[in-house]
Amino acid sequence: MKVLDLFCGVGGLSYGLEEAGFDVVAGVDHDEDVIETFNENHSARGIVADLKNTTPEDFDEEYNIGDVDSVSGGPPCQGFSNANMNNGDDERNNLIFTFADYVEYFDPDYFLMENVVGILSDSRYEDLLQRFEDMGYDVAYENMLATEYGIPQKRRRVITVGSRDISKEILDHVSTKDSPTVKDAIGDLPVLEVGEDSDMNAHTAPNHRSDTVEKIKRVPQGGDMGDLPEEYQLKSYDPERHSCCYGRLEWDEPADTITTGFLRNGSGRFTHPEQHRALTPREAARLQSFPDSFKFSEDIYQASKEIGNAVPPELARRIGNSIQIQDSITTAVQNQGIAD
Ligand SMILES: C[S@@+](CC[C@H](N)C(=O)[O-])C[C@H]1O[C@@H](n2cnc3c(N)ncnc32)[C@H](O)[C@@H]1O
Repeated sequence: MKVLDLFCGVGGLSYGLEEAGFDVVAGVDHDEDVIETFNENHSARGIVADLKNTTPEDFDEEYNIGDVDSVSGGPPCQGFSNANMNNGDDERNNLIFTFADYVEYFDPDYFLMENVVGILSDSRYEDLLQRFEDMGYDVAYENMLATEYGIPQKRRRVITVGSRDISKEILDHVSTKDSPTVKDAIGDLPVLEVGEDSDMNAHTAPNHRSDTVEKIKRVPQGGDMGDLPEEYQLKSYDPERHSCCYGRLEWDEPADTITTGFLRNGSGRFTHPEQHRALTPREAARLQSFPDSFKFSEDIYQASKEIGNAVPPELARRIGNSIQIQDSITTAVQNQGIAD
C-alpha cells in the first residue's frame, strides 16, 4: 500500500508504517533539517515544501507523486496543546484543513492523522470530521494512551482514521500490549556524566550548571521540585503550575510524555532515574520506541525537536498493521461476493 506522509518530521509515523508493510512514497515537511534526518533513515523521498503555500495540484505536478492508497500526517499541534490553552486563533491549527485539502485531491482509500488531545475540544475538529464525511469517508477517532500499545511512555494522542467503510474496525483492532518500563527501555545504555558524549548516535548528555546538578541530586525517583528543600526551589515555584518541574523518572514505571523540552530538567519529568542529568536524545528516542538504528541530528537541540515531535513508531506500526488486516478482510469479502 503506497502512502504519502505529510508534515512528516523525521518520520516516526513513516517508520512505523514501513514496519507494517506500507510503501512510503514521500515524506513532506517545510523544515530542511528534519528532511535531512528523514532522508538518512528512509528510502522514501524527503521533500522540503511548505504545504500551506502550494496547492495539492501544483505539489503533485512538481513532485510527480501519482496515485497513493493512503495519506498520513501529523499537522502541527501547538495551537491545540493544553500548554497553549487551546488558542483557537493559532493559524497553525488551520493546517488540519490543509491536510484535508491533500486528502481530497489524492482521494486515497485510507487516511491517518495524528494530533494532540486538545483537538477534541476545538470546534474546528468537528468541521474537519464533517468535511471528511462529505468527501465520502467513514471516519473514526480515538484518544490513545501509548502505554497501552507497548510504548514505555504515558503519551496521549488522538488518532483519526478515514476509510471507505471500516474506520471503526481499524481502531477497534489496533493490537494492545502492556508497556515496558523506563528500565526496560533505557536501563542498558552507557552511563554518562553531565555533558559527556559517547560513540552511540544521539547518546550525548546535556550540560547543566553546577547549581542545577546540586538540585537534581536531591530529587528522588518519582519526585520533583516539591521534594527539594525550600532554599533550592525557584522563588516562583508553584506546585499547581509547575507540576513535574525537575521531575525524576522512575525505573519501574513508564515515562511521562517526552516533549521537545526533554534536555531541560525544569521543563518536566526528564531527569534520568539514577544519573544526575536530563535524558540524552537516545534515551528519549528509546522511550519513544525508536530503534537504535534510527539516526538523529548530531546537534542535540535539533535532535530533541526531532524526537519530541515524533509519533512513536510502535504506535504507527500497530495502527498500520490494523489497516492492512482490515483491508485484506474487506478485499477477501469483496472477492467472495464476486465469486458467489
Ligand atoms: C508534529 S510534527 C510531525 C511529526 C511526524 N509525524 C513524525 O512522526 O515524526 C509536525 C511537522 O510539521 C511541519 N510543518 C509545520 N508547518 C508546515 C508547513 N506549512 N508545511 C510543511 N510542513 C510543516 C513541522 O516542521 C514539523 O516537522
